[in-house]
Amino acid sequence: MQEYVLKNDDFLVSQTDEKGKILFANDDFCKVAGYTLDELVGQPHSIVRHKDMPRAAFKDLWDTAKSGKVWTGYVKNAIKNGGYYWVYATVYPMYDAVTQKQAFMSCRRKPSKEEIADAEALYKTLS
Ligand SMILES: Cc1cc2nc3c(=O)[nH]c(=O)nc-3n(C[C@H](O)[C@H](O)[C@H](O)COP(=O)(O)O)c2cc1C
Repeated sequence: MQEYVLKNDDFLVSQTDEKGKILFANDDFCKVAGYTLDELVGQPHSIVRHKDMPRAAFKDLWDTAKSGKVWTGYVKNAIKNGGYYWVYATVYPMYDAVTQKQAFMSCRRKPSKEEIADAEALYKTLS
């Protein structure tokens, strides 16, 4: 499967509700993931999940963000029409003023080759 390597200034943002349903995604996220914004809004964020990602990573993400803390980590995501891309993600708990509910935001940038190799090795040991 073909890797899309993020550009230095790619900055992928998405926002979810308290259950992980996508509320918003910026242009960079839509372009890299291969979806239009309309296709993403209302879908579970697992729509971009790659099968190589261990469940433990997402459990850690959710446990951390739900406890009100910021989670950072490496994520391999699937592209709609095949292929994948790695990001370094920072997930923030936030309050959505429109829905007046708990929400979450993720901002993603390009990880280095070394960081990707380390994450790949670590994730092979997790399930
Ligand atoms: C703000 C936010 C951003 C997320 N971004 C991603 C993402 O880019 N890729 C991904 O696979 N899961 C992401 N998740 C985690 C998913 O909600 C989900 O837990 C994960 O895809 C595993 O799917 P599952 O819980 O159905 O097993 C994100 C969650 C939050 C709260």
